[in-house]
Amino acid sequence: MAHSVTLIPGDGIGPEVSEATRRVLDATGVEIEWVVEEAGASTLEREGTTLPERVLEQIRRSRVAIKGPITTPVGSGFRSVNVELRQALDLFASVRPSRSLAGLPTRHPDVDLVVIRENTEDLYQGIEFAKGSPEALELRAELLRLSGRELREDSGFTVKPISVTGAQRIVRFALGFVGAHGRRKVTLGHKANIMRFSDGLFLSIGQIEAEGHHEVWFEYMEIDHLSMRLVREPSTFDVLLLPNLYGDIISDLCAGLVGGLGLAAGANLGWEYAVFEPVHGSAPDIAGKGIANPIAMILSAAMLLRHLNEHPGAAAVERAVDQTLQRGEARTPDLGGTSSTDDVAAAIARAVAG
Ligand code: NAI
Ligand code: MG
Repeated sequence: MAHSVTLIPGDGIGPEVSEATRRVLDATGVEIEWVVEEAGASTLEREGTTLPERVLEQIRRSRVAIKGPITTPVGSGFRSVNVELRQALDLFASVRPSRSLAGLPTRHPDVDLVVIRENTEDLYQGIEFAKGSPEALELRAELLRLSGRELREDSGFTVKPISVTGAQRIVRFALGFVGAHGRRKVTLGHKANIMRFSDGLFLSIGQIEAEGHHEVWFEYMEIDHLSMRLVREPSTFDVLLLPNLYGDIISDLCAGLVGGLGLAAGANLGWEYAVFEPVHGSAPDIAGKGIANPIAMILSAAMLLRHLNEHPGAAAVERAVDQTLQRGEARTPDLGGTSSTDDVAAAIARAVAG
C-alpha cells in the first residue's frame, strides 16, 4: 500500500528543492501518495495565516510530512511556522546528522555527527514581552519584588523555560537513538554554571538518566567549550544532545563542517508525528534562479524513507547522493559547481535508478 505523505513545498527555494526531491523519491519506486499543502507566504496573502489549521489536520492524518523552508517575516507579528508546527504537533526531538560526504573534500575528512535538539522549550517557547508594553513593565515590577533586582525600564523579555518533563523525554530519546543506531557517545551541551535552573536542570536530568545506561559513553560539556572543540576536532564527537537554542546554532555549525547548508538534512520527531525538513531556510538571495542545492532536502527524504521502514530506498538515495558528488558531474554553485537544481536532481535520480 502506498504511504501517504504530506508535502509542504514552502517559500523561496522551497518549491524548487521539493520538486527535485519528489523526482528522486519517484525514482526509488517506493509508492508514495503525496498530499500537497501550502503554508507560508502564499497562504498569508490569501488566507491571512502562515499555517492554516487544515495543514495541521492533514499532517495529523498522514502522520508523516516533509517540508521545504518557510520564510519568517521579521517583525510582522507572525511567529515562525516552523516553531508553531513543532509545538502544535509536539515534535520534541530534532535530529540533524552531519557526515563527511565522499568526493567533497572539507577541512575535516571523517565527520559523522548527529545533533539531537530539544525542539519545544527553552528560549524558543515563544513567551515574549516587548519593551515598554504593559506586560513588560508589570513583569519588571514583579521581578523586582521577587528578586530584589531592578532591570532597565527599556528592557524586552524572552522567557527561557526548561522542564523536567521536557528534558527527560529528549534525554531518553537520545539514549534510545544511540542504541538503535549503533552510536556510542553522547555529549550533552549546556551553560549550567550561568543558567543554573534551566541549563542546570537539563544537565542534572542528563546525569540522572545516564546512570542507568552504562553502555553509553555520556559526557557533559559547556557549550562555548564544545563549540571550540567542534571546529578543531569534530571527528571525536558522535551524538550531541542540546537544548533548543544551542541545538539551532550548533546544527548550522555542523552543516558547515561537512560542506554547508545545501547538504544538511533534518527530522522533527514526536511520539505521534514526524516532519522532515532541510536545516536551511528559504534562501531569498537565490530563490527563483534554479540553482539551489536540493541535496539537503533529498537527504531529509532519505530519513523519511527510513522512518517509513523503506530501508533499501533510503540507502539507494544516500548512495546516489554520494555517487553524484563523487563523480563531480552535477554540483550547484554553493559546492563550487555550475549545475542547476534540476541537473542535480536528474543525476541523483539516474543514480538511484541505475
Ligand atoms: P538561509 O538558510 O535561507 O540562507 C543562508 C545562506 O545559505 C544564503 O546565502 C543562502 O543562499 C544559502 N543557502 C541556504 N540553503 C541553500 C541551498 N539549499 N542551496 C544553496 N544555498 C543555500 O537562511 P536565512 O537567509 O537566514 O533565512 C531566510 C529565511 O528562511 C528567513 O525568513 C528564515 O526565518 C527562514 N528559515 C526557515 C527555516 C525553516 O523553514 N526550517 C530554517 C531557517 C531559516
Ligand atoms: Mg536554524
